[in-house]
Amino acid sequence: MENNPPLKRKETVFLNLKDGEENDPEDTYAKIVRKYRQSKNVPWRRFCETPSFLKLVGKLTNEDVIDLGCGEGFYTRKLRQLTTGKVFGVDFCDNFIKMAQFQQYGANDIDYRQFDCGLPIEDIPGQFDLVTPTFLVQNALSEEDLEQMVQNIWNLCKPGGRVCGLNASPFVPVEEFKKDEKYGLSLSQKSTFYFEENASEYSVRLFDKEADMDISLRLMWYSGQFYEEAFRKAGFTNFRWVQLELFEDTDNAEYWKDFLTNCQVIMYEAIKPLNKD
Ligand SMILES: C[S@@+](CC[C@H](N)C(=O)[O-])C[C@H]1O[C@@H](n2cnc3c(N)ncnc32)[C@H](O)[C@@H]1O
Repeated sequence: MENNPPLKRKETVFLNLKDGEENDPEDTYAKIVRKYRQSKNVPWRRFCETPSFLKLVGKLTNEDVIDLGCGEGFYTRKLRQLTTGKVFGVDFCDNFIKMAQFQQYGANDIDYRQFDCGLPIEDIPGQFDLVTPTFLVQNALSEEDLEQMVQNIWNLCKPGGRVCGLNASPFVPVEEFKKDEKYGLSLSQKSTFYFEENASEYSVRLFDKEADMDISLRLMWYSGQFYEEAFRKAGFTNFRWVQLELFEDTDNAEYWKDFLTNCQVIMYEAIKPLNKD
């Protein structure tokens, strides 16, 4: 595909730099970590994404949990509060892992590891009751990469365990790319094959003037069917897509209607059958 040269991992997350601004990768990552943390406070995350995901995860007691694509640990810390079991966080970005470790403030009750989830993961001891790929799989650079990520999810999941994922929705057509500007996010097409061919690149811009935040994240589009098939092929059952809901700001349900219709963020759940390793 001439339009789509091979993509490099390091460019997965990037800032909108002003003209002439130097793009020192290390500096960029330090900035993005700060900015990305701010992005977790924007209303659509507070009222929709975070509570919806925690509802999907449900009540935990002593389950072992692993958060894949954990970033600076936003969801990993929340999972830590829900279970007395072991909690791991995995990300391939050095700065995110450092920031996540820093935010333990010496507690060391989360085991953070730096791995590329697109490669076979072999160094993590044991399996987990719950695997949470929180915005991981949308970063797969190719169909094979995505299948390897799902294979890792399978290997890390205990028989009888569950996967609860957060992801960019594969169901948003180009006509809807700008529909959420009033909430502070918009999509743009980087590949002419968006919505037609798996592994076509697009990007999401997250912006909030008050928080002085304006970041862009690169995403890769795969069809909903391809995701479902990848989980089924690995051995998972009961794969289902789960829509975000509105919490807290329910008096403003009318305002949130556009955001929740054809929502850009979606969740999924799948089960690893009891009799499978
Ligand atoms: C959009 S961020 C989500 C961070 C966090 N889960 C959250 O919800 O705040 C996506 C994360 O996936 C990580 N990531 C992307 N590709 C990865 C890969 N192949 N292996 C491990 N981590 C990856 C990025 O470094 C980034 O931290």
